[in-house]
Amino acid sequence: MSHTAELHSPEDAARLAKAETVLTPRFYKTDYAAMDRLDMSPIRAEWDAMLAEYEGDNNHDHFQRGPEFAAEVAELSAQWSPQLKRDFQEFLVSSLTSEYSGCVLYNEIQKHVSNPDIKQLMRYMTRDESRHANFLNQSLKDFGLGVDLVNLKQSKAYTYFKPKYIFYATYLSEKIGYARYISIYRQLERHPEKRFHPIFRWFERWCNDEFRHGESFALIMRAQPHLLQGGNKLWIRFFLLAVYATMYVRDHTRPWLSEALGMDPTDYDYQVFDITTEITRQVFPLSLDTDHPVFRAGMDRLCQISAAAERAKARGGLAGRVQQGLCAARAALCFGRLYLLPTKTHELPRDMRVAPSW
Ligand SMILES: [Fe+2]
Ligand SMILES: [Fe+2]
Repeated sequence: MSHTAELHSPEDAARLAKAETVLTPRFYKTDYAAMDRLDMSPIRAEWDAMLAEYEGDNNHDHFQRGPEFAAEVAELSAQWSPQLKRDFQEFLVSSLTSEYSGCVLYNEIQKHVSNPDIKQLMRYMTRDESRHANFLNQSLKDFGLGVDLVNLKQSKAYTYFKPKYIFYATYLSEKIGYARYISIYRQLERHPEKRFHPIFRWFERWCNDEFRHGESFALIMRAQPHLLQGGNKLWIRFFLLAVYATMYVRDHTRPWLSEALGMDPTDYDYQVFDITTEITRQVFPLSLDTDHPVFRAGMDRLCQISAAAERAKARGGLAGRVQQGLCAARAALCFGRLYLLPTKTHELPRDMRVAPSW
């Protein structure tokens, strides 16, 4: 299904949730024995303080909605343009898929490890992500598009990732998730008239969960310092670029969402990069220079290539496939050039934790 198709049924939503493209969220498996060997003793004090925050569960009553929620949806959605409706429903499906992807991964780790630190953390994060996924699914159900999560878990393809890749990628996606949600929330505080769906009112407390999940991975990596040194810095650079580029292309493929919120997608994305880059100084010894003109031009080029690939796919046939292949090669080349741009390096701070203060 192409990204321009409309969603009409739960089957359409499930198909989108199961789609395997470069831009869609994935499900992961990992090496549980290696997870078992992680040692948190170098950062015991910070670790225990963090687990106590999870234990306190300040969001236990947050992800609930009253009958006025659906009434507000009905009233507001009557004024949406077809593009906004399509983009928002896709946003719900892709958010649901990534929340549920976290839920499944954390739950699988929790089931397979005996290391008490990791088991306890994974249990708390599973709790949070399952709340988030179910809350999103309720909003899909308002449109008759609820996704069968049990079926999704059984039928979606899983990608194997070594634990360190899980740490880099998941840390980043939690922190970027925070930055995205808080930027939207702050924008709607300034412009409440742009709030075209009630779910955005939940984002502030919601993104604090994501922030804390990110903190957990930051502590895991700080406790295993070799993950942040030597050749691993090349992996950090790779994941930073991959996560930033994916977000940029995806947001520019469906600009109506941010435009409806009164935000230019480019400005929004660079604000999210700035917040994320500032946060990641807690753990990554390097960051991308997202203000570099070559970086900015490269991001736009990736969007153009992605649009050309979509057109080639829609065209179909041998010519379409050849053009798709050319687009993939051009995208790889462009990504490679961006990867080679100079990065900024920094010392890791003594204080490992950051507060969600944006
Ligand atoms: Fe979440
Ligand atoms: Fe999360």
